[in-house]
Amino acid sequence: MLTQNVIVLGASSAIGRVLAHRAASSGERRVLAVARSEVPESLAPLRGVTCLSGIDLCSEKSLNTLAATAQTVFQGRGPFAAVHCVGDFWRHAPLTRTPLAESLRVVQSNINTLIGAATALTPVMIAAGGGRFVTFSCNSVRHNFPNMAPFTAAKAAVESFTRSLSNECAPQGVSAFAVALSSVATEKVMRDEPNGDHAHYLTPEVVADFVLAQVLTLPHQATGNVLSLFEASPSFFGTGYFDRHPQPA
Ligand SMILES: NC(=O)c1ccc[n+]([C@@H]2O[C@H](COP(=O)([O-])OP(=O)(O)OC[C@H]3O[C@@H](n4cnc5c(N)ncnc54)[C@H](OP(=O)(O)O)[C@@H]3O)[C@@H](O)[C@H]2O)c1
Repeated sequence: MLTQNVIVLGASSAIGRVLAHRAASSGERRVLAVARSEVPESLAPLRGVTCLSGIDLCSEKSLNTLAATAQTVFQGRGPFAAVHCVGDFWRHAPLTRTPLAESLRVVQSNINTLIGAATALTPVMIAAGGGRFVTFSCNSVRHNFPNMAPFTAAKAAVESFTRSLSNECAPQGVSAFAVALSSVATEKVMRDEPNGDHAHYLTPEVVADFVLAQVLTLPHQATGNVLSLFEASPSFFGTGYFDRHPQPA
């Protein structure tokens, strides 16, 4: 499947913003940029871009609007891809010092939004002749770092949901894969991880280009996988978690 049609869910996120700009860099593409808050203003004037703001991916009303808009934007243009750049940030903190509401919000924003988006968009994708879902996980699922339990559990659910979706919808031409990221040098992450090996963090640009290559250029796609994306760090395996993330007093 080759497509020039992309939905960026979470277009206000650090990665989503860059991804939407990179996707729109070819005027041939049709890009639907979707955000709960505001889609970055710089996207609106670009050729082929439709912006959809105010979409909470846990709200049925928003999801109906998303499905209807996707149908209109991609009408007659064949398969499309949907990249889920959504999920509230987790600040590294012990579970016992994290308010329950914060943990539940992080879980909901990572997995409930994916289930919502997939429920709304899969029928539209199938009707369009197929497509690809791309989701984001984290290397914390493999390493089970401390101080991240709710976030890691949510990302494990994201990986599991992605695999199941790919198995369920393969006959209808829908593929799905997750990209498990190490730390990405976004403003929030750099603030939260002052002792990280910043020189070897991913950047939103690297992540965006990797995803677009998987989505736009490959005629065939391995599906149901979790692909790990990271920059090899010469100090990562020799440094303990608590050295990188000193415990609060
Ligand atoms: N940055 C990293 O180091 C890293 C590492 C591993 C995995 N990831 C994953 O990669 C993805 C993108 O990361 P990022 O750092 O670019 O994210 P980010 O800048 O923290 O942005 C998170 C996005 O999620 C949106 N969101 C949260 N709840 C939502 C809801 N109910 N409905 C719609 N949108 C909602 C937020 O919208 P608002 O703007 O309205 O708040 C925001 O755009 C996330 O899944 C993240 O977990 C990132």
